[in-house]
Amino acid sequence: MMARRSLMVGFGGYLPDRIVTNDELAARLDTSDEWIRARTGIGQRHIAGPEDNAVSMATAAAAQALDYAGMPAADVGAIVVATSTPDQAFPATAVRVQAALGMRGGFGFDIAAACSGFVYALTVADSLIRTGQADSALVIGSEVYSRILDWSDRGTCVLFGDGAGAVLLKAGDAAQPAGVLSTHLHSDGTMGDLLYVDGAVGLREQSGFLRMQGRDVFRHAVAKLSSSVDEVLAANGMTHADVSWLVPHQANLRIIEAVARKLELPPERVVMTVDRHANTSAASIPLAMNEAVRDGRIRKGDLVLMEALGGGLTWGSALARL
Ligand code: COA
Repeated sequence: MMARRSLMVGFGGYLPDRIVTNDELAARLDTSDEWIRARTGIGQRHIAGPEDNAVSMATAAAAQALDYAGMPAADVGAIVVATSTPDQAFPATAVRVQAALGMRGGFGFDIAAACSGFVYALTVADSLIRTGQADSALVIGSEVYSRILDWSDRGTCVLFGDGAGAVLLKAGDAAQPAGVLSTHLHSDGTMGDLLYVDGAVGLREQSGFLRMQGRDVFRHAVAKLSSSVDEVLAANGMTHADVSWLVPHQANLRIIEAVARKLELPPERVVMTVDRHANTSAASIPLAMNEAVRDGRIRKGDLVLMEALGGGLTWGSALARL
């Protein structure tokens, strides 16, 4: 078998119709549009309606990614879904998506790594492809954080939104310059209580809330993401000057700006969705990729740096050439 690399060949996204503005939150919470924008860069978020769930949103995003690539669902080898808000403990979101797409072959499973979920799922899917266990893989982030938010806690509920994003990977020849170049994962479970859910999740009733020490998470995010982008560039013998686009996890504008400054990347080289999507956890990177590929910003040959940090703490980075 030739040495393989995972090419990113399809992109898709789904956002619920319902948009909730900061002003709408300020009408029922002691907060304001000014406070939320100044501290986070967030102006609005999409919130799941009764018809939306982790499976339906993931399926919609996946169908778009397949359509983009012109690949029939039947040809997909693997589905890896990153989610911290599955509709059920099992079956995995991924096998529900497999069924919804009409696939009878291949395999699927979920990954839980909170807001780092997409980088983790990409790492696993890329490994499956490079080792020959799948010739293609859908990598999906799908999150319904509105169902784990304490809507009376202004310190957390203003930060998150719902949505799903998908990237389709396909095996390519490693002799070609394109594809996922490397991925790097980290976690430190001793910091598990900085950002966690105090219960399980489910479709039927609210059974756990997201809890966060915002200031500590912020501090760790800037430090760990800065070393993480250094790590992925060094591993590939590259410098910040080689990066065409930073496609970061979209938690907070100030965290993103700190990492961009470190990379000496001007704002116009950073794909930003946090203003409109808020933090969609594992969905934020593929949603941002989808937007920037479809509007023509990210083009074939561009070098894309992805990074994320989330509950766990988990963090990581990935470098890919389109
Ligand atoms: N509206 C108005 N005031 C708010 C508020 C809101 N939505 N949320 C918190 N406050 C208040 C606090 O109660 C506090 O008031 P006090 O000084 O009277 O006690 C004050 O604002 C400052 O709170 P603090 O938490 O220190 O603010 P901060 O500057 O750290 O900003 C975050 C808070 C959450 C925006 C910031 O810590 C953050 O972005 N952290 C990272 C969170 C994140 O991205 N998590 C996900 C990672 S995947």
